Amino acid sequence: MTVIQHATRTGLADRYGRVATDLRVSLTDRCNLRCTYCMPEEGLDWLAKPELLTDDEVVRLVSIAVTHLGVQEIRFTGGEPLLRRGLVDIVARTTQLTPRPEVSVTTNGIGLARQAEALKEAGLDRVNVSLDTVDAETFKKLTRRDRMKDVIAGLAAANDADLTPVKVNAVLMRGVNDTEAPQLLEFCLEHGYELRFIEQMPLDAQHGWDRSTMITAEEILGMLTERFHLTPDDASKRGSAPAESFLVGGGPQTVGIIASVTRPFCGDCDRVRLTADGQVRDCLFARTESDLRTALRAGADDEELADRWRRAMIGKLPGHGINDPSFLQPSRPMSAIGG
Ligand code: 5AD
Ligand code: SF4
Repeated sequence: MTVIQHATRTGLADRYGRVATDLRVSLTDRCNLRCTYCMPEEGLDWLAKPELLTDDEVVRLVSIAVTHLGVQEIRFTGGEPLLRRGLVDIVARTTQLTPRPEVSVTTNGIGLARQAEALKEAGLDRVNVSLDTVDAETFKKLTRRDRMKDVIAGLAAANDADLTPVKVNAVLMRGVNDTEAPQLLEFCLEHGYELRFIEQMPLDAQHGWDRSTMITAEEILGMLTERFHLTPDDASKRGSAPAESFLVGGGPQTVGIIASVTRPFCGDCDRVRLTADGQVRDCLFARTESDLRTALRAGADDEELADRWRRAMIGKLPGHGINDPSFLQPSRPMSAIGG
């Protein structure tokens, strides 16, 4: 029996024939930056400690996902996952699961310089680092913190620790960093990082997203082709990988553009999310969540929790609907959902 057949029978299938095999786990809703497209200056009302899953609870649920539900890829996110004290231990216990999942972390890079080596030793495969600008002043304006140097050092440390390919995620905002796409690509090419631009999505706590001002994938491509020769990277079939990939100057290096808004890839979605307080979200934009924490703490066994998780997928909608006039933003912001 192939892995796919197995997952269809017992895994996280929805009504539209999609099967989630990629689990994003938020380990904290806190962050040490205040990116304007994500959080207000003053931060948010953080989850209280008792609401957060403990390290053991996180590992228990991740283990059920891997051993009972066909999940093959685990990505730890936040907020900022490096702020979670137990991160290295959680990663180590996750990489010891059978079948061994692929394990990565999405981070803003602050503190990565200190933790990269330990994470590698814990078995971490890769990191995705968010970096929206290589100009220190713009960084300060965009993240409201003067910490670009820490991120650059974090990237270098991840590369040295062989957490590769090091991927860089960038979001462009009009009037803030929208002219910096070529510089970002140059920086990433120079260091051997794989850059992907992500269209800004309506996930900010302040509800400030505006369709008419967002920078589209088309525009990004236009700005990049003024400076670089890009050709579609046929080797990287899009499949459930959301980034459309281009070879730069004939390759081998590539740049990706994730057109979540203008070219949604919901039909191929293979993701599911677990929030730091133990709620399953079948989509970033879901308006409902399924509580696993209560059952977990009431002593449910693995089978029952797996069953609850399967049932949580049934309501997964065919698409995010960002482009529908009736679209409503999820009530939790990105930092509480987990990218
Ligand atoms: N739109 C697109 N990307 C976002 N991210 C955070 N908020 C948004 C948003 N509103 C990105 C972060 C990080 C990844 C987890 O998601 O920059 O790279
Ligand atoms: Fe923090 Fe990421 Fe939100 Fe920026 S986008 S404030 S790094 S959680």
